[in-house]
Amino acid sequence: MSAETLEYHHDKHHNAYVTAGNKLMEGTPYADMDLESAIRESYKSDPKLFNQIAQHWNHMEFWHWMSPKGGGAIPGNLESQIKKDFGSVDDFKEAFVQAGVTQFGSGWCWLVWKDGKLAVTQTPNGENPLVHGGTALLGCDVWEHSYYIDYRNARPKYLEAFFDHLVNWERVTEIYERAS
Ligand SMILES: [Fe+2]
Repeated sequence: MSAETLEYHHDKHHNAYVTAGNKLMEGTPYADMDLESAIRESYKSDPKLFNQIAQHWNHMEFWHWMSPKGGGAIPGNLESQIKKDFGSVDDFKEAFVQAGVTQFGSGWCWLVWKDGKLAVTQTPNGENPLVHGGTALLGCDVWEHSYYIDYRNARPKYLEAFFDHLVNWERVTEIYERAS
């Protein structure tokens, strides 16, 4: 992920969600809620606000899910769980990349912890596992703004690079340990 992509993505796109979300919340009961409650609450009743604040949450997490020296070996306890639920790390990678590739239009692909096991899911636009009763262990942004500068239309290449070279597995493992 180039510096140009990171700057545009963080300074323009993420910032736009924060600005719009703050504006929409002003003077409403949402302003006094913590972010996760506001996301769950607005999911059904205020889709306009939901899109902005869910994207804020998604992006805050996304920056932490990456590391300049990411990718590589997955810590042992998470790796064991992956093997248990997906068969192998390669099978998990294929499922994760495919979820990102097949998400039609904008959205996210996820590794979630739900009902005592790992699962790969995909969501449109700003939707996230918070509103589907799961814990997001890892998410990858597949909006075009996340890869178009570096990969043009090649979303699969971006997803492969994300998985192989960017994922901060220590962070993913920490969330897994808390959730499980
Ligand atoms: Fe994004």
